[in-house]
Amino acid sequence: MAKQASGYVWLDGKFVNWGDAKVHLLTHSLQYGSGVFEGIRCYNTKKGPAIFRLREHMCRFMQSMKIYGMVPKFTQRQLEEAALSTISKNNLPDAYIRPFAFYPDAGIGFNVRGKSTSIAMMALRFVSLFAGHNKGIRCKTSTWLRINSSAIPAAAKASGNYINSILASKEANDSGYDEAILMAESGLVAEGPGENIFIVQDNILITPPKSANILLGITRDSILRLAKAEGIKAVERDIRKEELYTSDEVFFAGTAAEITPIISVDSRIVGDGVPGRLATSLASKYSRAVRGEDRRFTAWLSYIKS
Ligand SMILES: Cc1ncc(COP(=O)(O)O)c(C=O)c1O
Repeated sequence: MAKQASGYVWLDGKFVNWGDAKVHLLTHSLQYGSGVFEGIRCYNTKKGPAIFRLREHMCRFMQSMKIYGMVPKFTQRQLEEAALSTISKNNLPDAYIRPFAFYPDAGIGFNVRGKSTSIAMMALRFVSLFAGHNKGIRCKTSTWLRINSSAIPAAAKASGNYINSILASKEANDSGYDEAILMAESGLVAEGPGENIFIVQDNILITPPKSANILLGITRDSILRLAKAEGIKAVERDIRKEELYTSDEVFFAGTAAEITPIISVDSRIVGDGVPGRLATSLASKYSRAVRGEDRRFTAWLSYIKS
């Protein structure tokens, strides 16, 4: 999936060598999952590398910190600049960028009173989350429910949330499936472990609403905007589990997964058992947009200054 880069890590305003970006084993965020992070893609375009929807990702990063009361020493604008310079410093043509805010102190005890927040920014070469699955993936609905905002805020991209994702993915993988789909406590469809979900019925694009305890994905938003621009009807509404079996198409959308068609759910074939027409067409439009080939969406790109 991702290849470890050598090179430099941006850490609290300075570049350090990749191998020197270290913390103690008792670091609070390692012990208690108290970090928050982002996953951002930089694509190679005709005008050089460009980061996709950088402002929106950094805005969500700031909001994740705010939800947990972490106080960053940097403004959103400074963090956007840091992401751009991490790409240029490492001379990467394309990359997955991982901003990470964490409590660096080592010690026992989860109380965060008085703890300072460190921010790191890593960039790695990245192919695809589901590389080798271009004919679509087979999913299993999880016996684990999606985390609920009344216990753990689903809108914050916190490290600890991904324990829930790991349980669901592992269960699906151990049962021979490629990935899991999680339900909310209501029993209605929420999302994938690291992706939002869409279904297609009679050429209408449907995705669960905010109230389904989902992370409000930036790819999800991009798909909804692309659909609008293309005159494709899209609605945000609750999805019942059985609709995953009976819809014409089902697909995942996320920064790492991009648009990944789902060809079966719980061993029920979705549609014709091949990537659907709308998912295929949106995937190619998305691929053009992220590479600056669609003039309607060039504002989504932040180019690396050479
Ligand atoms: C739980 C979860 N849902 C959805 C998404 C998709 O969000 P985005 O499109 O912003 O990457 C992600 C990935 O970040 C995720 O981790």
